Amino acid sequence: MKFTTSLLASALAYLAVSVNAAPARRSALDVWDPTITSPVAGTVWTLGSTVNVTWSTADEPVNVSNGGRIVLAVNQFEALYLSPPFNLAAADGFFTVTVPENLIPGGDYQVVLFGDSGNIGPSFTIAAA
Ligand SMILES: *[C@@H]1O[C@H](CO)[C@@H](O)[C@H](O)[C@H]1NC(C)=O
Ligand SMILES: *[C@@H]1O[C@H](CO)[C@@H](O)[C@H](O)[C@H]1NC(C)=O
Repeated sequence: MKFTTSLLASALAYLAVSVNAAPARRSALDVWDPTITSPVAGTVWTLGSTVNVTWSTADEPVNVSNGGRIVLAVNQFEALYLSPPFNLAAADGFFTVTVPENLIPGGDYQVVLFGDSGNIGPSFTIAAA
């Protein structure tokens, strides 16, 4: 997969659509931006491994209106999807993803969890297997 900024733009567009899809039900459903609890600073993922992205559900509203999707940001510039769209409310604070094998090992990876507008986590490291 080629990493392009258009992927991040696509993610933002996807999100705008999903957030705006049901304005009439906004009173009963709350948009939610969960706080990422893994990966955080000091986390090391290994190429090709299976890992959990986790987030706090402490502030989860009763009814969550927005879906979830996990994006990997590379050097704060390029982005690729780590997950398909999923049911954020049903995910229970984690989603399991596979670290792509074709990434360049480095220390400036970040996970973006959509969410409403998208929460970006701190930089962490992806290492060679
Ligand atoms: C959650 O959704 C249900 C069903 O639409 C509704 O009855 C309830 O009032 C909502 N709760 C909140 C806190 O919005
Ligand atoms: C992800 O978290 C779930 C729930 O805690 C756990 O069952 C599973 O083993 C975890 N997977 C990995 C790869 O850590």
